[in-house]
Amino acid sequence: MYAINGVCSRTKCILGILETDNLRTKCQCHHAEFNLKDGTMVVPPYVAPNIPMDKLTLKVYPVREENGFIEVDT
Ligand code: FES
Repeated sequence: MYAINGVCSRTKCILGILETDNLRTKCQCHHAEFNLKDGTMVVPPYVAPNIPMDKLTLKVYPVREENGFIEVDT
């Protein structure tokens, strides 16, 4: 389980595409892709291919299961 900021770090679109086979989420606006484990941008937006991806990491939150509930530390 992973918990990650759901808003793209570029121009604040809602992230909405989950790719479970490679543990990435994709921004639906310009298709930047983020690693679910550490929030790093791994594919730049198609409208800004030279963007500094290392400065656009998303916040990741600790997640645990407790008595059948999923808890996220924010
Ligand atoms: S707003 Fe996310 S890639 Fe453009």
